[in-house]
Amino acid sequence: DEFDGSARGGRIAELLGGYARAHGDWRPLALFSELHYTRNLVALEERFELMILCWGPGQASPIHNHEGQDCWMAVLDGEIEEVRYPLPSAGGSAPLHPRGSQRFSPGQVAFIRDEMGLHLVRPPLAAASGGVTLHLYASPYDECNCYCPDTGRVTRKKLGHYSVRGRILTSGTAGTR
Ligand code: SIN
Repeated sequence: DEFDGSARGGRIAELLGGYARAHGDWRPLALFSELHYTRNLVALEERFELMILCWGPGQASPIHNHEGQDCWMAVLDGEIEEVRYPLPSAGGSAPLHPRGSQRFSPGQVAFIRDEMGLHLVRPPLAAASGGVTLHLYASPYDECNCYCPDTGRVTRKKLGHYSVRGRILTSGTAGTR
Protein backbone atom coordinates (compact mmCIF):
# COMPACT_ATOMS: atom_id res chain seq x y z
CA ASP A 1 0.00 0.00 0.00
CA GLU A 2 1.59 3.28 -1.16
CA PHE A 3 0.46 5.23 1.95
CA ASP A 4 2.24 2.94 4.43
CA GLY A 5 5.93 2.73 5.17
CA SER A 6 8.19 5.47 3.92
CA ALA A 7 8.14 8.68 5.95
CA ARG A 8 8.33 10.78 2.81
CA GLY A 9 6.22 8.54 0.60
CA GLY A 10 8.81 8.81 -2.20
CA ARG A 11 6.85 6.70 -4.63
CA ILE A 12 3.82 8.97 -4.32
CA ALA A 13 5.95 12.05 -4.96
CA GLU A 14 7.23 10.37 -8.12
CA LEU A 15 3.70 9.55 -9.27
CA LEU A 16 2.43 13.08 -8.67
CA GLY A 17 5.43 14.66 -10.38
CA GLY A 18 5.02 12.33 -13.35
CA TYR A 19 1.36 13.25 -13.63
CA ALA A 20 2.14 16.99 -13.37
CA ARG A 21 4.72 16.80 -16.15
CA ALA A 22 2.65 14.76 -18.58
CA HIS A 23 -1.01 15.71 -18.22
CA GLY A 24 -3.30 18.68 -18.65
CA ASP A 25 -6.69 17.10 -17.94
CA TRP A 26 -6.76 18.91 -14.57
CA ARG A 27 -7.43 22.23 -16.34
CA PRO A 28 -11.26 22.16 -16.25
CA LEU A 29 -11.10 21.58 -12.47
CA ALA A 30 -8.74 24.51 -11.80
CA LEU A 31 -11.22 27.24 -10.83
CA PHE A 32 -9.82 30.53 -9.55
CA SER A 33 -11.45 33.19 -7.39
CA GLU A 34 -10.41 36.83 -7.36
CA LEU A 35 -10.95 36.92 -3.60
CA HIS A 36 -8.75 34.11 -2.26
CA TYR A 37 -6.93 30.94 -3.24
CA THR A 38 -9.30 28.06 -3.94
CA ARG A 39 -9.45 24.39 -2.86
CA ASN A 40 -11.07 22.38 -5.65
CA LEU A 41 -11.95 18.80 -4.73
CA VAL A 42 -11.06 16.03 -7.14
CA ALA A 43 -11.52 12.93 -4.93
CA LEU A 44 -12.30 12.25 -1.28
CA GLU A 45 -11.82 8.71 0.00
CA GLU A 46 -11.33 7.24 3.47
CA ARG A 47 -7.53 7.10 3.05
CA PHE A 48 -6.87 10.20 0.95
CA GLU A 49 -8.10 13.52 -0.41
CA LEU A 50 -6.99 14.90 -3.77
CA MET A 51 -7.43 18.59 -4.54
CA ILE A 52 -6.39 21.18 -7.09
CA LEU A 53 -5.52 24.51 -5.52
CA CYS A 54 -5.51 27.73 -7.54
CA TRP A 55 -3.40 30.66 -6.45
CA GLY A 56 -3.90 34.09 -8.00
CA PRO A 57 -1.04 36.60 -7.73
CA GLY A 58 -0.93 37.96 -4.18
CA GLN A 59 -3.05 35.10 -2.75
CA ALA A 60 -1.59 32.96 0.03
CA SER A 61 -2.55 30.36 2.60
CA PRO A 62 -2.16 31.28 6.25
CA ILE A 63 0.64 29.58 8.21
CA HIS A 64 -0.82 26.20 9.13
CA ASN A 65 -0.24 22.66 10.39
CA HIS A 66 -1.29 19.36 8.77
CA GLU A 67 -3.12 17.50 11.55
CA GLY A 68 -0.65 14.66 11.75
CA GLN A 69 -1.16 13.72 8.11
CA ASP A 70 1.18 13.31 5.13
CA CYS A 71 0.76 16.05 2.52
CA TRP A 72 2.17 16.21 -0.99
CA MET A 73 1.99 19.21 -3.31
CA ALA A 74 2.87 18.95 -7.01
CA VAL A 75 3.02 22.12 -9.08
CA LEU A 76 0.85 21.90 -12.21
CA ASP A 77 1.31 25.45 -13.49
CA GLY A 78 3.24 28.59 -12.53
CA GLU A 79 5.84 29.07 -9.81
CA ILE A 80 4.89 28.33 -6.20
CA GLU A 81 6.76 29.22 -3.03
CA GLU A 82 6.60 27.32 0.25
CA VAL A 83 7.72 29.24 3.35
CA ARG A 84 8.57 26.98 6.32
CA TYR A 85 8.27 27.88 10.01
CA PRO A 86 9.30 25.98 13.12
CA LEU A 87 6.48 24.83 15.43
CA PRO A 88 5.87 27.67 17.93
CA SER A 89 6.02 26.95 21.64
CA ALA A 90 2.65 26.14 23.22
CA GLY A 91 0.58 29.15 24.20
CA GLY A 92 1.92 31.28 21.36
CA SER A 93 3.03 34.75 22.35
CA ALA A 94 6.00 35.41 20.05
CA PRO A 95 6.23 36.34 16.35
CA LEU A 96 6.90 33.46 13.96
CA HIS A 97 10.13 33.67 11.97
CA PRO A 98 10.46 31.75 8.70
CA ARG A 99 13.09 29.04 8.71
CA GLY A 100 13.51 29.19 4.94
CA SER A 101 11.61 29.09 1.70
CA GLN A 102 11.74 27.09 -1.47
CA ARG A 103 10.35 27.64 -4.96
CA PHE A 104 8.75 24.88 -6.98
CA SER A 105 8.20 24.79 -10.75
CA PRO A 106 5.72 22.68 -12.74
CA GLY A 107 6.46 18.97 -12.21
CA GLN A 108 8.22 19.50 -8.86
CA VAL A 109 6.76 18.04 -5.66
CA ALA A 110 6.89 19.26 -2.04
CA PHE A 111 6.13 17.08 0.95
CA ILE A 112 5.24 18.10 4.52
CA ARG A 113 4.07 16.53 7.76
CA ASP A 114 3.84 18.10 11.23
CA GLU A 115 7.27 16.88 12.43
CA MET A 116 8.77 19.03 9.64
CA GLY A 117 7.10 22.21 10.96
CA LEU A 118 4.49 24.63 9.64
CA HIS A 119 4.28 26.32 6.29
CA LEU A 120 2.47 28.77 4.09
CA VAL A 121 2.04 28.43 0.34
CA ARG A 122 1.74 31.20 -2.28
CA PRO A 123 3.02 32.36 -5.66
CA PRO A 124 6.30 34.26 -5.09
CA LEU A 125 5.49 37.76 -3.80
CA ALA A 126 6.73 39.61 -6.90
CA ALA A 127 5.04 37.22 -9.35
CA ALA A 128 2.68 38.80 -11.86
CA SER A 129 0.86 35.51 -12.45
CA GLY A 130 -0.49 32.80 -10.19
CA GLY A 131 -0.19 29.06 -10.14
CA VAL A 132 -2.00 25.73 -9.82
CA THR A 133 -1.02 22.90 -7.46
CA LEU A 134 -2.17 19.31 -6.94
CA HIS A 135 -2.46 18.29 -3.25
CA LEU A 136 -2.73 14.81 -1.83
CA TYR A 137 -3.54 14.40 1.88
CA ALA A 138 -3.32 11.01 3.55
CA SER A 139 -5.54 10.83 5.43
CA PRO A 140 -8.12 13.60 4.82
CA TYR A 141 -8.83 16.23 7.50
CA ASP A 142 -11.35 19.07 7.62
CA GLU A 143 -9.96 21.27 10.38
CA CYS A 144 -6.48 22.56 11.09
CA ASN A 145 -4.46 25.02 13.16
CA CYS A 146 -3.69 28.42 11.64
CA TYR A 147 -1.05 30.64 13.22
CA CYS A 148 -0.88 34.41 13.45
CA PRO A 149 2.60 35.42 12.20
CA ASP A 150 2.82 38.36 14.63
CA THR A 151 1.88 36.55 17.84
CA GLY A 152 2.10 32.80 17.12
CA ARG A 153 -1.50 32.56 18.34
CA VAL A 154 -3.38 29.49 17.10
CA THR A 155 -6.89 29.47 15.71
CA ARG A 156 -8.81 26.36 14.65
CA LYS A 157 -10.01 26.69 11.07
CA LYS A 158 -12.71 24.61 9.37
CA LEU A 159 -11.63 23.58 5.88
CA GLY A 160 -13.86 23.24 2.87
CA HIS A 161 -13.95 23.26 -0.89
CA TYR A 162 -14.59 25.98 -3.43
CA SER A 163 -15.66 23.47 -6.06
CA VAL A 164 -16.27 19.73 -6.34
CA ARG A 165 -15.19 18.07 -9.58
CA GLY A 166 -15.63 21.29 -11.57
CA ARG A 167 -18.79 22.64 -9.95
CA ILE A 168 -18.49 25.74 -7.77
CA LEU A 169 -20.30 25.19 -4.48
CA THR A 170 -23.04 27.66 -3.61
CA SER A 171 -22.63 27.16 0.14
CA GLY A 172 -20.81 30.48 0.33
CA THR A 173 -17.77 29.06 2.13
CA ALA A 174 -14.44 30.19 0.82
CA GLY A 175 -12.98 26.76 1.49
CA THR A 176 -9.60 28.26 2.29
CA ARG A 177 -7.56 27.77 5.43
C1 SIN B 1 -1.37 23.00 1.83
O1 SIN B 1 -0.79 23.14 2.88
O2 SIN B 1 -1.32 21.89 1.29
C2 SIN B 1 -2.05 24.14 1.11
C3 SIN B 1 -3.14 24.83 1.79
C4 SIN B 1 -4.48 24.16 1.84
O3 SIN B 1 -4.60 22.92 1.86
O4 SIN B 1 -5.49 24.87 1.93
